[in-house]
Amino acid sequence: MTRVILDCDPGIDDTYALIYLAALNHAGRIELDCVTTSAGNVDAQQCARNAAWVLTQCGLRTIPLAAGLPGPLKLPLTTTPETHGDTGLGYVTAPERHVEHDWDLLWIDSIERGTEDLHLIVTGPATNLAAFARLHPEHFAKLEHITVMGGAVNYPGNTTPTAEWNFWVDPHAAQEVFTAAHTPITLCPLNTTEQMVLEPERLEMIVEKLGPTPIAEDLKEITRFYFEFHEDVGEGYRAQIHDLLTVLVALGDVATSDCLATIDVEPTSELTRGTVVADLRGMWEREPNARVITGAEIAKAWEAFERACATHSDFFSGDAALAAGYHRKAED
Ligand code: RIB
Ligand code: CA
Repeated sequence: MTRVILDCDPGIDDTYALIYLAALNHAGRIELDCVTTSAGNVDAQQCARNAAWVLTQCGLRTIPLAAGLPGPLKLPLTTTPETHGDTGLGYVTAPERHVEHDWDLLWIDSIERGTEDLHLIVTGPATNLAAFARLHPEHFAKLEHITVMGGAVNYPGNTTPTAEWNFWVDPHAAQEVFTAAHTPITLCPLNTTEQMVLEPERLEMIVEKLGPTPIAEDLKEITRFYFEFHEDVGEGYRAQIHDLLTVLVALGDVATSDCLATIDVEPTSELTRGTVVADLRGMWEREPNARVITGAEIAKAWEAFERACATHSDFFSGDAALAAGYHRKAED
């Protein structure tokens, strides 16, 4: 059984990644071992509240969940309420709730269950992953399948001319992670994730396919904020769902092209912090530390997500939801 640790910073596109993973968990295709949060789009504590609420709205109330480190390894935390909303879910606010902080113990428990089929997927700043490599090197070394959303490889950034948001927020963590990598980490950079564009028409179809799933009631208001942000920055009234594509790539649910590279990340200069420098030709004579995803079949990726949304509809229409304590929506 494929198992997943998701380290995320929901965050609107992280929300789509959670919806997808919840559906695969319902379908018995994966086991979502745990969800942990990094500080990025909003603070890690709020990201944890958001992740817990999204999972609950997707029929998963009991996934082990914890907030990770409160901020980057060395730099002060910068969040982006202008992109994801004041609390990280656009025009929706998740309810207050208690949040645990034993994130690294959750990872250790999962790793000690075996790592052959364990996928660690990071869709926020790499702060927790870098800290884990420092704190628990022997467990970090056991991780065989790590996928990270971040960076822009010889491609314009979305935060500075050369830096992508996750790597800009915590460039030291990104640099440490790829320096510590014992096997190439799958890297989903902006080059590819910016192609995962959600149009309003597709959102309508997604909400319809979700059926009586509680998350469907809020997904439009969550996403409207992201549409408006993208319109404000000249991308049109649409949204780039970076983290959903990253999860699909990590699980092999979409065909991709890739190349091996040795990457480093510039952490210090104000102008170039978070910039990825990629050696694609072995000039540094260092082992490759990244499998850079250079392309993906985006149409197939959306088809896979829409199939997952239908799984949610089946779950909430069936007895499993009742058994999990969810009440069936009154027939319209
Ligand atoms: O640059 C895009 C990334 O930054 C995505 O993970 C998005 O959620 C934000 O965290
Ligand atoms: Ca994210």
